[in-house]
Amino acid sequence: MSNIAIIGAQWGDEGKGKVVDLFTCDADIIVRFQGGNNAGHTLVVDGKKTVLHLVPSGALHPNKLCVIGNGVVVDPQILIEEIDALKAQGQLLDDSLLRISEEGHLIMPYHKAIDLARERLRGKGKIGTTGRGIGPAYEDKVARVGIRFIDLLEEDTFQEKLRHNIEEKNIYLKAILKEKTLDFDEIHDTYSSYRERLRPLITNTSLLLHREIHAGKRVMFEGAQGTLLDVDHGTYPYVTSSNTTTGGACTGAGVGPQHIHHVIGISKAYTTRVGSGPFITEQFGPEGETLKREGVEFGATTGRPRRCGWFDAVSVRHAVRVNGITGIALTKLDVLTGFKKVPICTGYRFDGRLYDEFPASSKVLDKAEPVLEEMAGWSEPLTAVRKFSELPAAAQKYVQRIEKLLDTEIILVSVGPGREQTILLKNPFDS
Ligand code: GDP
Ligand code: IMO
Ligand code: MG
Repeated sequence: MSNIAIIGAQWGDEGKGKVVDLFTCDADIIVRFQGGNNAGHTLVVDGKKTVLHLVPSGALHPNKLCVIGNGVVVDPQILIEEIDALKAQGQLLDDSLLRISEEGHLIMPYHKAIDLARERLRGKGKIGTTGRGIGPAYEDKVARVGIRFIDLLEEDTFQEKLRHNIEEKNIYLKAILKEKTLDFDEIHDTYSSYRERLRPLITNTSLLLHREIHAGKRVMFEGAQGTLLDVDHGTYPYVTSSNTTTGGACTGAGVGPQHIHHVIGISKAYTTRVGSGPFITEQFGPEGETLKREGVEFGATTGRPRRCGWFDAVSVRHAVRVNGITGIALTKLDVLTGFKKVPICTGYRFDGRLYDEFPASSKVLDKAEPVLEEMAGWSEPLTAVRKFSELPAAAQKYVQRIEKLLDTEIILVSVGPGREQTILLKNPFDS
């Protein structure tokens, strides 16, 4: 009886949504534990595409319990829109299939205003955030002034916290950021209507998970973003504001580490990144353009083009270590069809020194050159392949080389966006 965590091993958009949807048939409960609607998780089922930002990616399967844990920052408007869109297409019809932690923090209009204004003022030095208010919402959580769902449920607590926040935020917005101020009554009324809509879904999700796990239910923890965007282990300061790594599943869902039995790291067979920050294997020429075109590399949340480059074994090995990854799901192998040579980065070189472990220094990350090992490419399309032995020999060798460099078993190879376009080598729920 296993519970598993699905974690992004790169800079996000690795295909977590697809893999979570795929393994949901073996799970009973799917839990988001961090991030917010900066996430965009794409699921393609029977040719139909659904993008989820807050609702866990198990929602397309009937009768699976979806949980939004305490570590998630929730924009209630976006959540309600997403629930309504799912209901309109016949999913999540039973309200008992979605639960929200009473300790989850709310994204408020001032968080979005601050996020957008700061990015504008940063100019060229901007982080390239999604502008969804994620960073400012987590700042308030850590500053102990955030508003949680439990606070929203209590009218007097909500009023007091909102009033205090609006006072402070309006001074900051006006004097420092030169932005418009926000109106207490307007926000109060809007959020009061969200309260009535969401009230039946709000509960103690840590306790719920505890009881379900002890009753023998199988849980899948769905990460958002990726290891290199983790606030501790990523390319700081070009990161998001939460722990995207496995430890975040414990704090963000309120479960002990003994309840996570396998950690599946999701990695593309190459690398992408949205937003600013270092990216050592980035390709600026025609090869980068081909990856973008063939991989349709445009953000599922903001539509921004993703920066593209070669697979980086140094950074994914770092992800294996900081997450305790027990198996890798390698996605988008099909996108590499047609390249004569497919390089893999095995080290970084900077100032006469060779780095084979991921450096923390922004200077090194900015200026280092990749050490590339060239693998032979293949020309056959892979999207119809369902068995590893049916992959072209060069594609098999490419996957095996990555497995060796990561010293971690590859349990799944994905060859297209569809649920069925998958070569499953080992099901973590079976052990
Ligand atoms: P997530 O944020 O990790 O869930 O990933 P996104 O949904 O943001 O981005 C992954 C994109 O790649 C989506 O458009 C998926 O439909 C698509 N995708 C996932 N796996 C594969 C694959 O193996 N091959 C191809 N061509 N597309 C894939
Ligand atoms: P999923 O779950 C890719 C990036 C933003 C920016 C940085 C900080 O779909 O993989 P934020 O709005 O979080 O403060 O932005 O993080 N980012 C993502 N990149 N996939 C995501 O989520 C991301 N969520 C945030 O582009 O560089
Ligand atoms: Mg995404």
